Amino acid sequence: MGSGKGDQAVAIFRDLRAERPDDADLLSAERAVLAHGIPQWHAKMLSDFDRNDCYERALIRAVRPDSIVLDIGSGSGLLAMMAARAGARHVYTCEAVPAVAETAREIIAANGFADRVTVLSRHSSDLNRKRDLGGGADILVSEIIADNLLSEGVIASLAHAARELARPGALFIPCKASMRVALAWFDQPHPQLPAVVSGFDVSLFDRHVATHHSVLVGHKRLHLRSNAQEMFPLSFGESAPTAPTHDHAVLRAEEGPVNAMVQWVHLQMDDAEAYENAPAADASSAWGAVLHRFPDALCGADVREIAVHGDHDGVNPRFWFARG
Ligand SMILES: C[S@@+](CC[C@H](N)C(=O)[O-])C[C@H]1O[C@@H](n2cnc3c(N)ncnc32)[C@H](O)[C@@H]1O
Repeated sequence: MGSGKGDQAVAIFRDLRAERPDDADLLSAERAVLAHGIPQWHAKMLSDFDRNDCYERALIRAVRPDSIVLDIGSGSGLLAMMAARAGARHVYTCEAVPAVAETAREIIAANGFADRVTVLSRHSSDLNRKRDLGGGADILVSEIIADNLLSEGVIASLAHAARELARPGALFIPCKASMRVALAWFDQPHPQLPAVVSGFDVSLFDRHVATHHSVLVGHKRLHLRSNAQEMFPLSFGESAPTAPTHDHAVLRAEEGPVNAMVQWVHLQMDDAEAYENAPAADASSAWGAVLHRFPDALCGADVREIAVHGDHDGVNPRFWFARG
């Protein structure tokens, strides 16, 4: 795996397993290889039934008997199977991680959709409209959205797909996505670094700790302190997708002290429905909310307005703050 030959390792294990199906040592080593480098959020994501159902409703509204669908980022093959079940003429699904693509292929076959779903073991940017998709897709469905919206490369992948893989007038699901940001009070002195450790003051080490981290959207210690504002609205499927690299917002505290900004994602699936993982006491989501700690000077009960500035390089968003 370390030398970049993971796919060969996976193939070797598959052959060995056929010869020695009961070898526990072999099975354990194979599991280690198959899990290597695979983000461990897949299981949490598949267990998010609100997310799954929201995608399926949008696919059912969009798919027609003559639709050619492209699912970007197969994972387990879930969205591709939903599109096939909704009645699409054919579904193509691409997956950048070969071992995951192979598993999607097996899952799709086991569920009886092998004849209507083609798994392409490739990153979407390596697909060709004519060679791989029979001329292009009418519907492009994807869930390559990170907690921070951007870090799975959604801007570049969907801009490429709009230019190179979509038929004219193709529908994108989701069709738009953006960040939502709000002031917050995170009721914990420091989320990661205790100031005093074994009797020593280590608080200076704070300068090396990232000022943001993901928290559960239903975290008991997270309290919203303002209305939400939209930042970095993205629109998919247009020939020149809007992807502002700088944006700003002004957040006004409604009540109580503030010490952070919290950011979550908002996905406009189509004209009928949106999904968002807004933090709330009883909320749950596969996506975490990203908490951005304020410097001490911007924390407290007297802070009523914060100006938020953000920029990104297409993948990594960065924020800075000032009193409004
Ligand atoms: C968040 S998972 C979603 C999986 C599945 N579509 C679902 O919703 O359950 C994203 C998957 O897409 C893959 N991926 C991300 N960007 C991709 C791209 N541009 N082309 C192909 N695969 C991609 C990742 O390796 C990962 O397996």
